[in-house]
Amino acid sequence: MSLMIKNARSLVQAADPVASRVAGTDMSSLPVIEDGWLYCEGDTIKSYGPMSGFPGDTDADEVIDASGRFVLPAWCDSHTHIVYAGSREREYMDKIRGLSYEEIAKRGGGILNSAKLLRETSEEDLYQQSLKRANEIIGFGTGAVEIKSGYGLDTPSELKMLRVIKRIGETTPLDVKATFLGAHAVPAEYAGNRKGYVDLIINEMIPAVADEGLADFIDVFCDRGFFTVEDTERILTSASDWGLPAKLHANELDFSGGIQTGVKYKALSVDHLEFTGDEEIELLLNSGTMPTLLPGAAFFLGMVDPPARKMIDSGLPLALATDYNPGSSPQGDMKLIMSLGCIRLRMLPAEVINAVTINSAYAMGLSSSHGSITPGKRANIIITKEIPSYEYLPYAYGSHLIERVILQGRIVV
Ligand code: NIG
Ligand code: FE
Repeated sequence: MSLMIKNARSLVQAADPVASRVAGTDMSSLPVIEDGWLYCEGDTIKSYGPMSGFPGDTDADEVIDASGRFVLPAWCDSHTHIVYAGSREREYMDKIRGLSYEEIAKRGGGILNSAKLLRETSEEDLYQQSLKRANEIIGFGTGAVEIKSGYGLDTPSELKMLRVIKRIGETTPLDVKATFLGAHAVPAEYAGNRKGYVDLIINEMIPAVADEGLADFIDVFCDRGFFTVEDTERILTSASDWGLPAKLHANELDFSGGIQTGVKYKALSVDHLEFTGDEEIELLLNSGTMPTLLPGAAFFLGMVDPPARKMIDSGLPLALATDYNPGSSPQGDMKLIMSLGCIRLRMLPAEVINAVTINSAYAMGLSSSHGSITPGKRANIIITKEIPSYEYLPYAYGSHLIERVILQGRIVV
């Protein structure tokens, strides 16, 4: 199947060749082709250019006239937890009444609440619940997604989650990366024995996950009240023996040492980063680790925002992701995340578009195949409604502006 998109107002983030990530002042510029065409064959982008050199569309199986519309690469959401059971709106009310995220967790709520429900949910039911969220984010224009385990917290339930993640990748047009997050919280049966649970992760869970080939990455919630730097180092050392690179939850609740640990273990990304100081920025500058911010979580929990402006002005790259999960960010619209990036983190529209395309592709190991309109990359494309500029996307923060979504070369929305 071949597809020609013609008369686009602009192709945004279209470049060949393209860098694997953009940092510092480069984040505020975007390669744009005005009045463009784009041709895809099978699941791959073949060619593009300005309409002045239009090659014609008689050979294409499908033709879309994108007059007045903007064409972009589909969003890459590099941090989600969309495989979960049920929801947690009761805790939402507890939060409104004044309890903090940590207080709720200490009472056995939070992640443990979701773990209890997930253990009781069949694999088929979990798949059906999660499939709805997968289809929902496709409608928002997401084409590649990282999904974490971490609501099972015992070996069979973690494997159940990871099998559901794999099935989402097989049965939807999303490109899916799976992350094993056994170290999301200490389960109730190990209360007071965190070391025992870390032993279980190392001795039983990681080998089982790796044997079934169910994960691309390993993650640890390295933060105050959850897992320490020492726990994290033990888990990452073992995971690296099994060939699992790290993506860490770090510095959401405190200066946890998570960023330092991520850089030391060459993590692909460190995520959250509300507590980031000069020392952390310096280390990240000299690393291949992508700092990833999740503004939906700080917004939803009413917590402090990370120093995004300072990070970019220091020369760092940034990725943005939804963190779609039942506890701290129960929504998966990357466009709303872009708006939060602009409004709360003072990032410019071009910076947030780089952060949800090429840089978030990098944060999930996909920057050679995703995150830009580049010949040879995956034909994952968004066509907007008629809008005046690409800056309008984060500006009109409550409007649904995605008209068409093309994933793996097929029109899916
Ligand atoms: O990324 N911070 C840790 N984990 C998730 C929240 C999970 C939950 O509360 O269910 C997060 O915010
Ligand atoms: Fe998360």
